Amino acid sequence: MVPMNLLRGKASADYLNTGEWSKKAIKEAKKFGAVNVVATSEDKNFSYAPPQDAWKLDPNAAYVHYTPNETIGGVEIFWTPETGDVPLVADMSSNILSRPIDVSKFGVIYAGAQKNIGPAGVTVVIVRDDLIGQVVPGTPTMMDYKTHGDNESMYNTPPTYGIYIAGLVFKLLKAKGGLAAMEQTNITKANLLYDYLDATSFFNSPVARENRSRMNIPFTLKDAALDEEFLKGCKARGLVQLKGHRSVGGMRASIYNAMPVEGVRQLVEYMKEFEAKHG
Ligand SMILES: Cc1ncc(COP(=O)(O)O)c(C=O)c1O
Repeated sequence: MVPMNLLRGKASADYLNTGEWSKKAIKEAKKFGAVNVVATSEDKNFSYAPPQDAWKLDPNAAYVHYTPNETIGGVEIFWTPETGDVPLVADMSSNILSRPIDVSKFGVIYAGAQKNIGPAGVTVVIVRDDLIGQVVPGTPTMMDYKTHGDNESMYNTPPTYGIYIAGLVFKLLKAKGGLAAMEQTNITKANLLYDYLDATSFFNSPVARENRSRMNIPFTLKDAALDEEFLKGCKARGLVQLKGHRSVGGMRASIYNAMPVEGVRQLVEYMKEFEAKHG
């Protein structure tokens, strides 16, 4: 929907490539126009994000797209790119609501609900008004942001249950002190795990320090032959879904807003136990 709505007669769009979700966005955009990859971290297996001074931005691009948190690689960008008059588009699926952001800096923010918002099936899209209404010819009605904007997101029958739950989550986050409070909790959680990963050589974090995601923390065991036993022990303690994505292997702790500090503490305790036994 981003290229359909945002190309607005322009020939190309700029994309940053930091991993699996960037690649998927680029693949889709190529169906509608030319894509200029401003920078890529493929050279180091997507373990970092290229800094903005390494980006080759095109001043005539329709927009600049990036993925501030690569869910699979665990690479997060904590600064907001400066793109001048070219609208900035962000896939915030896996870090929205994890910390405060300045929405005014973005042309479009989109995010699947299923991480920090609510049940799968809802997608949040925040679009700057002036970018709406110039879709590429042939765009289906449902793919046009104007349709959803003009109809308060009820042009079709929306997934009402998912939206209701999202509303409850928003209220809960406010009651907990809002996104500033969530950020502090998320920093605490992430540091618990990263501090241990830094202190041990039994486990390893593949991600560059300045891009370590607070939401998705991939790590590997020094001896991959122990992976299955590690996962079995995790499961026995109620620590589940720790197997890394099939495309990268290893482990991945996804510690979204709903994961309490205690959950991360228990994981780190188990990792220490496992190291004591096998290290
Ligand atoms: C960053 C990012 N973008 C896009 C998606 C795709 O979301 P969906 O499966 O809702 O299309 C995901 C994962 O679920 C993701 O983590």
